[in-house]
Amino acid sequence: MKAEGILETVIYAENLGRIRPFYEDVLGLECFQATVDRQLFFYCGDQVLLIFNPAKTSVARAPGPGVPPAHGALGAGHVCFRAEARELDRWRSHLEQAGIAIEADFEWPGGGRSLYVRDPAGNSVEFAEPRIWNLPRKERTLRGEKLVVASHNRGKLKEIDDLLKPFGVETVMASDLGLPEPEETETTFEGNARLKSEHAAKAAGLAAISDDSGLCVDSLHGDPGVYSARWAGPSKDFALAMRNIEEKLQAVGATTPETRKAHFISALAVTWPDGETRCYEGRVDGTLAWPPRGTRGFGYDPMFVPEGADLTFGEMEPSAKHAVSHRARAFKRLVDDLF
Ligand code: IMP
Repeated sequence: MKAEGILETVIYAENLGRIRPFYEDVLGLECFQATVDRQLFFYCGDQVLLIFNPAKTSVARAPGPGVPPAHGALGAGHVCFRAEARELDRWRSHLEQAGIAIEADFEWPGGGRSLYVRDPAGNSVEFAEPRIWNLPRKERTLRGEKLVVASHNRGKLKEIDDLLKPFGVETVMASDLGLPEPEETETTFEGNARLKSEHAAKAAGLAAISDDSGLCVDSLHGDPGVYSARWAGPSKDFALAMRNIEEKLQAVGATTPETRKAHFISALAVTWPDGETRCYEGRVDGTLAWPPRGTRGFGYDPMFVPEGADLTFGEMEPSAKHAVSHRARAFKRLVDDLF
């Protein structure tokens, strides 16, 4: 016989009320059982994290059905959460923003990075890449998955659907499931993409894909960036948004191709029902034309001329846009990883 995997990770804390917000709010774990003063149980991927108050659980109770033997430990324990390399930077800033001091952050000589903090009970909490133990990343695929497309933007829905079609993935739209659109509160494309896919996967109990994208204009310090949709106002008026960009470019004297450089970014996030999220980013560089040209595509397409082309995305055949677009480039990374 060989044990197949670890199911529970257990640490101890005397004041459960004080540590609960750390695991629930800061680390985002779902608390599925809380017994006052005795135990907190959280789901974490395909494991559970159990936190017990040793003052209660080290006291032996009369044996009987459903009564586990006593256990308990005093002093600082240790738990380590798996995180991919690119997630560690996000964890670091997320923890810092939550006011949690980083105790250590280093590369192991054999490869892989670890980040350490303390929970409010003093337990040592680590975030580390699986490769520190020579463990592979979990094998993931979207083959055969039913996938929720977590977007309410019709233009993006069509592009994502077109990109997924050749892989035989069955898609269902978030709006068809009646899922509400979460507010995009993050300040990065990746952050907002994750927020949307995580929200949809949780609500639907299915794998979900989302895209957060936008146009970044060099002479406007990267604006409109993550606010690209918002610049079009509640009526999604992109003629207005494009005029707004043009007025700002004129105001800073950006009239030459060199000063009218811009790029689109697309961050695609996929979340599986067990909570794991992977993110893939793509970018296309170009310049901004005026007046807008073409009626194809959506959003800022009529203003954007990709590098090496004369036509705007709004004038191109969809297949020509797909050949170079930020979304297609992000998608290529996703396909390499998941199909
Ligand atoms: P969000 O990702 O839903 O927040 O919105 C991103 C916004 O960026 C869209 O509403 C578009 O205005 C713009 N955008 C993103 N990708 C493209 C594209 O491929 N062409 C034109 N505009 C885009």
